[in-house]
Amino acid sequence: MKKHVVLYKKLSAQLMDRLQAQAKVTLIENLDAQGLAQLRTALPSAHALLGASLKLDPSLLDLAPHLEAIASVSVGVDNYDIDYLTERRILLTNTPDVLTETTADTGFALILATARRVVELANLVRAGGWQQSIGPRHFGSDVHGKTLGIVGMGRIGEALAQRGHFGFGMPVLYHSHSPKPAVEQRFNARYCDLDTLLQQADFICLTLPLTAETEDLIDARAFAQMRPDSIFINISRGKVVDEAAMIDALRNGQIRGAGLDVFEREPLDPVSPLLQMDNVVATPHMGSATHETREAMARCAVENLLAALAGERPANLVNPGAWKR
Ligand code: DGY
Repeated sequence: MKKHVVLYKKLSAQLMDRLQAQAKVTLIENLDAQGLAQLRTALPSAHALLGASLKLDPSLLDLAPHLEAIASVSVGVDNYDIDYLTERRILLTNTPDVLTETTADTGFALILATARRVVELANLVRAGGWQQSIGPRHFGSDVHGKTLGIVGMGRIGEALAQRGHFGFGMPVLYHSHSPKPAVEQRFNARYCDLDTLLQQADFICLTLPLTAETEDLIDARAFAQMRPDSIFINISRGKVVDEAAMIDALRNGQIRGAGLDVFEREPLDPVSPLLQMDNVVATPHMGSATHETREAMARCAVENLLAALAGERPANLVNPGAWKR
């Protein structure tokens, strides 16, 4: 008998065909109240789940006694209680690598948009405010040659360093668990402690995962270290930052601006003070959101899931402790 897979993210027709050839599939199209009710109904017979952007708490997963695998269509796994999954021997997989370059592109888009005030000035033109050649009041700051500070030198951090070093001639500072000699050699990057990075970098870019250790890592104390001409970029997770402290830092001129793709609560509240600030570029958690990359992520997740259901070790297993065959 075919196993039951519950999708809470729509797949392309091609991937859906692939999955349906191997499994009975229930698709939950929206994660609204009705969709969540459908999910609760489907969980008791589910062998596997595939989707993203949903916090799968143990209280929900307790409804799924037959669950063998969860294929997350994301690289981040902060929506899952990994200890709980491992204890229950539920395999969790993610989609690393395929989104690295696209997410680094987003990081650079935010760097450029914030430093050169692209959104603010484009809005000025749209509103008919371009009456004469712009003056210092509307000037931005250079990106090339400035110091790029990367907090969290994983795959996406490296891709950002590559762009900064080779494309924009930027000296690269980084902070991560431990120094990475290969990165230092490739990008002429310098490892330093977090405070040094916050004090010296022109662009402070977060690319690290959300864990118990990184939650609220960038707090009021951290913002106080930054220079008033520095620009803060977050493409990791909103909860790595104390958002209220960031709002204060922006209001008080402790930093020049911020380019933000992620927020403490998503979607961002339309009345957030961040949306009133001209020096903030806010985007809707779109780091990996291109047609090509989202399809590649979905394909990766489907392959992980089919491997798990076939009793094979999936390529992107997050919790190897759950693999005890
Ligand atoms: C990821 O893959 O983790 C992206 O942030 C989308 O959630």
